[in-house]
Amino acid sequence: MTYHRIEVTPIAGALGAEIAGVDLSAPLDNSTAEEIHRAFLAHHVVVFRDQTLTPTQQVAFGRQFGTPNEYPFVEGLAEAPEVIEILKAEGDTRNFGGLWHSDTSYLPRPPLGTLLYAREVPAAGGDTLFANARLAYETLSAGMQALLAGLRGVNSAALRYAGGRRDAAAGNSEMKAKGVERADALEAIHPIVRTHPETGQKSLYLNGAHTMRFEGMTEAESKPLIDYLCAHIARPEFTCRVRWAADTLVVWDNRATHHYALNDYHGHRRRMHRLTIEGDVPR
Ligand code: SIN
Repeated sequence: MTYHRIEVTPIAGALGAEIAGVDLSAPLDNSTAEEIHRAFLAHHVVVFRDQTLTPTQQVAFGRQFGTPNEYPFVEGLAEAPEVIEILKAEGDTRNFGGLWHSDTSYLPRPPLGTLLYAREVPAAGGDTLFANARLAYETLSAGMQALLAGLRGVNSAALRYAGGRRDAAAGNSEMKAKGVERADALEAIHPIVRTHPETGQKSLYLNGAHTMRFEGMTEAESKPLIDYLCAHIARPEFTCRVRWAADTLVVWDNRATHHYALNDYHGHRRRMHRLTIEGDVPR
């Protein structure tokens, strides 16, 4: 794939690329925006280093991908309500997103992508792992693919949303929780194998954070296969790992990836600005 406006360097065999040569705080010309979008679809996770972005500028860049939406369980920033602050303070032990998941899959229209911008990071630790759910699907046997073709998953915010952040006030002392009582009410049924609306590629779409069971089956009946598929998605050869620095922005495609925020930095502070972009109904 050829790029003229940006430099694109893959960071792993499975997915992920660093993009250099662009300043995201300023409006992008059409060619640069098109190349970034092409790299995003090809690599599923794109990493921009040394960006200086206010929340408003983060939202403006997010609009290149679609319409920003609001996260249901954390108050947005005053400057940009679509942006939430994810903050693990020095005394906290819980982190946000500390298990494999695709963002808010309990919504009828889960976000197509997420833009996460690092404001403060620990000297070491706090990396984010990503897994390529398309590769995970493509490496299943034909028999398993045929079995999954007919299955839909029941996704609920009440299972373990955002890594157990139901008691966010206790777990993340400085985050501003909202709407916690709505967790049971947020449920959506989506195909276990979804087709990417832009690339036509199929990927596995279920996760241990939100997928409680298969439609028409009990949790006990569903669990062994859900567990198998979640372990399959997280196979090391399907993953990449992003090491954060302050002023790094990462954009990932929730339609083709899963991610996991590592919680290996107790005693240190990590503060991120997170924005999601509205997606379509998974099919
Ligand atoms: C998330 O799951 O959205 C947050 C990931 C992270 O903080 O690395």
